[in-house]
This record gives sequence, C-alpha cells and structure tokens, in this order.
Amino acid sequence: MTRSKLILAALAGLVIAGSASAAGGAKHPHGPEGGFPFEGPFGRFEDESVQRGYQVYREVCASCHSMKLMHYRNLGEPGGPFYDPEYPNANDNPLVKAFAAQDEILSSQPNDVGDYEYRPARPSDPFKSPYPNDAAARAANGGALPPDLSVITKARHGGADYIYDLMLGYPDPGEISDDGEIEFREDYHGTLTQAPGQYYNPYMEGDTIPAWEGDPRHAPPGGFLAMAPQLMDGRVTYMDGTEATKEQMAYDVAQFLAWAGEPKQTNRKSAGLAVMAYLLIFAGLLWFSYKRIWRNVSH
Ligand code: HEC
Repeated sequence: MTRSKLILAALAGLVIAGSASAAGGAKHPHGPEGGFPFEGPFGRFEDESVQRGYQVYREVCASCHSMKLMHYRNLGEPGGPFYDPEYPNANDNPLVKAFAAQDEILSSQPNDVGDYEYRPARPSDPFKSPYPNDAAARAANGGALPPDLSVITKARHGGADYIYDLMLGYPDPGEISDDGEIEFREDYHGTLTQAPGQYYNPYMEGDTIPAWEGDPRHAPPGGFLAMAPQLMDGRVTYMDGTEATKEQMAYDVAQFLAWAGEPKQTNRKSAGLAVMAYLLIFAGLLWFSYKRIWRNVSH
C-alpha cells in the first residue's frame, strides 16, 4: 500500500468510528457555563457552594441516596466546607456537631436490656443512610437501587459536569403528555414513550430505540432512569439567602459531590504547588553550582 492510501484508510476508519459513536449513547456532559472553580491545577472548591450543596444533599437527595464513606466530621476537617481554624479538631466544631445531632441513627451498642435504640448522631459517625440495606432501598424505589453518592463523581464519566447536566437534563414536565409521550420536532423527529416509573434523560447512559417511534437511525441520545427530576426552583430555602434556582442547586450539589469524592483535593493542590516551587528553585541552584564547579575545568 502506498503511503497516501494508508492515510486515506486511516481517515476512513476515523470517520466510521466517529459516526458509530454518534449513533447512540448519552449526550456528552458539558457542565455549567464557565466550568467549576475547582478545575485545573490552581482550582479550589468554593466553600459557600459546597456548603449549599450539602444542604441540597441533606434536604433532597439524602431521602434516597446514602453516602456511606462520609462522616459528619469530614465537613469540618481542613479542606471541608465547614472547616474553622478555631476548631482544628472537627469533632469540636459546633456546626458539625449540630448537623450530626439532627440525624437519629441506630446505636451500635445495645442498652441495659439488650435493645438497640436510636440516638442523635455524633461527628464521628458516618452519614445516616436512608435505608437499612439495598433490598429495602430497591423496594422503596420500584426495584431500582439509588447508588451511594460518596464517590459518584469518580464513578461516572464527566464527574461533576455529569451530575450537573443529569439534574438539569430532564425534559420540562410540560413537554410530556399524560401517557408519558415526549414529542421531538427539531433535531429528531418522532415520539419517545416513558414507561411508568421511568424518566427520559439525554445524559443517562442507555438506549432510547425500543421506546422510539420515528427514524430508528436517528433516535434521541440518552436513556431512561428510575429517578424522577429532583430539582425545581425553590426546592430548598438556602440558609445563606442565595436564590435557589434549579441551576444553582444543581451547581452546588455537583460541587458538594465533587468535594465528597476528593475531600483532600485543596490540600493536595497546595502541596503540589509548593513542591513544584521547591523543585524549580532547586533546579536553578543545581544549574548554578554545576556551572561554578566546572568553571575552570576544560571538558
Ligand atoms: C425519591 C428518591 C430519589 C431522590 C430524592 C434522589 N434520587 Fe437519585 N436516584 C434515585 C434512583 C432510584 C436512582 C437509580 C435510577 C436507575 O438506576 O434507574 C437514582 C440515580 C441517581 C444517580 C445515578 C445516575 C447514573 O448515572 O446511574 C445520580 C447521580 C443521582 N441519582 C443523583 C441524585 C442527586 C444529586 C439527588 C439530589 C438532588 C438525587 N439523586 C435525589 C432516586 C432518588
């Protein structure tokens, strides 16, 4: 094969691969306009947003989703949204104590007569789970298991961008008929039918073809999930007075989940920067001493 033929074959391969991926799958998550503040080597979590995100998680998501890897004290540790230098030990942080004490959890120690009782949680406890086990969680959610959200931004392609887009990606309730039909007129032409308890979302991994009436080669992206849309304007009343639009709540909860997935990110980045600065200075010193040592030696 000549060289130009090889290049042509490679290009054709690329085109085929490209069109194959365009024919199905979920919409690529793009996240909020302007991105998240924690992205990039100099990025940091915006504490106020992570604090609000915790409120959204608690008041909305926590009734179905556990976060088993998180402990209340993590909220008040360095890098955490409620960290206060006055309380280097997060277990003493009054805010963290108050958040924990609002949740009643089943004690792991039996009382004097051998029964297990509910008690207010302490900062050292893991976040309260909404269900005692997976079977109970499935039974309450029509057979679907709400995944644990501790590291969800690490477990899904697109991370926080994906959470943001998934939360906001559902079609408007006004676009869905009583029979669960969604009509597409612009990019796709046809009708998608939601089965009872299933909700269409263009960012969800899945397949829309079985529910699609229209050109099968041109079905809308995405899939169905058993979680109804969760965020509508005003769903929470923010403690800090920020207006709770659904975009704001999606932004805050996505940032909170990104923090939860990597609570030490801020510390890691500042340590990384210090190490880079040190290495740079050290490299400079090394270069000058090399020059100096070999100055009068012919080599
Ligand atoms: C009423 C219960 C309920 C509430 C409240 C709820 N979810 Fe869910 N969620 C579910 C269920 C059930 C699933 C599993 C859906 C499936 O697999 O079909 C799910 C799935 C998810 C997924 C995984 C999607 C995927 O890629 O597999 C994410 C992320 C998620 N929820 C985030 C949230 C966030 C963030 C909130 C709060 C703003 C929230 N959920 C509130 C029930 C709930």
